[in-house]
Amino acid sequence: MLKRKDLLGLKDCSAEEIYEILDTAAEMKKLLDSDCKHSDLLRGKALVTLFYENSTRTRSSFELAAKYLGASEVNISVATSSVQKGETLIDTGETLDAMNIDFVVIRHPMAGAPKLLAEHVRASVLNGGDGMHEHPTQALLDIFTMREKLGKVKGLKVAILGDIKHSRVAMSNLFALTKLGAEVHMYAPATMIPKEIEKLGARVAKSREQALDGADAVMGLRIQLERQHGGLFPSLSEYAKYYGVNDATLKYAKKDAIVLHPGPVNRGVELSPQVIDGEKSLILEQVKNGVAVRMALLKLLGEYREKRL
Ligand code: CP
Repeated sequence: MLKRKDLLGLKDCSAEEIYEILDTAAEMKKLLDSDCKHSDLLRGKALVTLFYENSTRTRSSFELAAKYLGASEVNISVATSSVQKGETLIDTGETLDAMNIDFVVIRHPMAGAPKLLAEHVRASVLNGGDGMHEHPTQALLDIFTMREKLGKVKGLKVAILGDIKHSRVAMSNLFALTKLGAEVHMYAPATMIPKEIEKLGARVAKSREQALDGADAVMGLRIQLERQHGGLFPSLSEYAKYYGVNDATLKYAKKDAIVLHPGPVNRGVELSPQVIDGEKSLILEQVKNGVAVRMALLKLLGEYREKRL
């Protein structure tokens, strides 16, 4: 059983915990694929989504996951909430907690905001992405997709290309994939690779072709224009030409390699439209798997809450 109140990141999760989440997600996917898509596992429980940054996938999939498991769910629209009157994160959290909620999913531009919140609320806090720190549920759904399609995680070569420096998805994947015995090869312009990334277990490739050579899984990352202050690469078209993945460069990967992207995608920048819509692409399957993974986390954290309270 997952013995933790919150899910704040994967750096501190063990391989056993990650496999427990992936195995539970496989069970949840059966429910998701069934005609009924409903269980009473979380009947009487309540989930709040509190997003200080935009989201399509993470927020809606948490909300659907809660609904499919029988919980109530409410979204706090930060743009129209008392945050705009100057309410602090802790005051907002304590206010929501006073309503007897069980789960709060937070996305925040500041690294560490979910941890701060978790220290002040009784509800279980799930990190929906914090600054450039972690996006644990995205990495879990990425790894679930790799395991489902490739049958294993250990021994895989995973190539991650794109804006690694600004990517919380890259960090969570790196922590979890290396823990599970996969090789993580990264490639990007030098301005988009954190200096110390090799100390965390990544292998930084000298070329796009070297990163892709023999890869089982190829992950493109979004060029995060909103987190950059300019000057990291000359232009989007040059980025696509020299660092992007297209059908020609994808030939360096294994014949049956899969292509992943957390979304949203800048079409024609990190991945060509042919790759995005091609037969190797699992981008929409990742979205579906995101619901199953989030259902699994709510189930597991919910069970721990039942035992603890
Ligand atoms: N991958 C991801 O976090 O997508 P959203 O920003 O749409 O939630």
